[in-house]
Amino acid sequence: MDDQRLTDPREQAPDVEPDRSLRPRRLDDFVGQDAIKDNLRVFIAAARQRGEVLDHVLLHGPPGLGKTTLSQILAHEMGLEIRLTSGPAFSNAAELIALLSEQVERRAVFIDEIHRLGKVIEEHLYPAMEDWRVELIIDKGPNARHFNLQLEPFTLIGATTRAGLITPALRSRFGIVCHLDFYPAAQLAVIVKRSAAILGIGLDDTGAMEIARRSRGTPRAANRLLRRVRDFAQVEGRTVIDGPVADRGLTRLGVDALGLEPLDRRYLQVVIEHFAGGPVGIQNLAVSLGEESDTLEDMVEPFLIQAGLLKRTPRGREATARAWTHLGLEPPAAQGAQGALL
Ligand SMILES: Nc1ncnc2c1ncn2[C@@H]1O[C@H](COP(=O)(O)OP(=O)(O)O)[C@@H](O)[C@H]1O
Ligand SMILES: [Mg+2]
Repeated sequence: MDDQRLTDPREQAPDVEPDRSLRPRRLDDFVGQDAIKDNLRVFIAAARQRGEVLDHVLLHGPPGLGKTTLSQILAHEMGLEIRLTSGPAFSNAAELIALLSEQVERRAVFIDEIHRLGKVIEEHLYPAMEDWRVELIIDKGPNARHFNLQLEPFTLIGATTRAGLITPALRSRFGIVCHLDFYPAAQLAVIVKRSAAILGIGLDDTGAMEIARRSRGTPRAANRLLRRVRDFAQVEGRTVIDGPVADRGLTRLGVDALGLEPLDRRYLQVVIEHFAGGPVGIQNLAVSLGEESDTLEDMVEPFLIQAGLLKRTPRGREATARAWTHLGLEPPAAQGAQGALL
């Protein structure tokens, strides 16, 4: 799909760009998330039969699980052109109206980080999503005049790492809502094998499984670790990445047996060592770690929670007994007892 225009500079960030060749282009090549794929196949087929564009789709889930990839696949399968943009790229409603009113037939508009659209801008999306119409207001106060502008039908695909930050008004206008979850290791192994084949990297089953197990349930991490492990293998003079080669490379990268990277471990260390295991508020943690709280909530916490290392309680974040043990520490007695019950 070379007709894509990238309006979000972050889409071209070095971390993301090398993945473009690895992005599956068809639903059949998109590994895992079977329940979502099965439903999407039905919605795509039905919309095609009716000769309509697909209903608006909201994709949510942690970073790196395939939201951007899936949006491109959806457009491709529907035969729609896709326009890629993101919430923070819009500084005012006029920019959104300009984009929506482009006279392009059969189009998907992808808005990444849609929870970061400003409120006023977001309100212009409502009539656009419901009736293919935007309202222009010219002049202010008593002279204000309203015009309705008819749009070409389009499919809005929104993606967000924070479903909780989407307003109910926006959320309710999406006909299709999909939550992407972390991938089991067996599926990540399939993904890295596919990537290795595309990139011409020798990778056997044990190597694939080792990388898969230590990729935090995340395809983007798996692909990144594959590339870095390849560097170690190459310097060692290995042509095939097997289990031991992968293990050595990952260990040197600071990726531990559970797949935690240095920031993940520092996070747990701070909760345990500075705050006695919690509960501790996110802002306190952000200050102690010198990171943005958004980064922690988006990139670090979802996997720690999924791995049973962290709990979010109304009073703040708490390290579980498993987290203490993972860092080689003795959990406090009460925690230990709790852990035993779990
Ligand atoms: N289900 C999947 N099957 C194969 N590769 C995937 C899958 N999901 C993600 N990927 C790979 O991981 C990378 C990150 O996915 P992306 O769609 O950018 O995630 P997100 O938009 O959710 O942050 C993609 O470039 C793609 O290569
Ligand atoms: Mg994305």
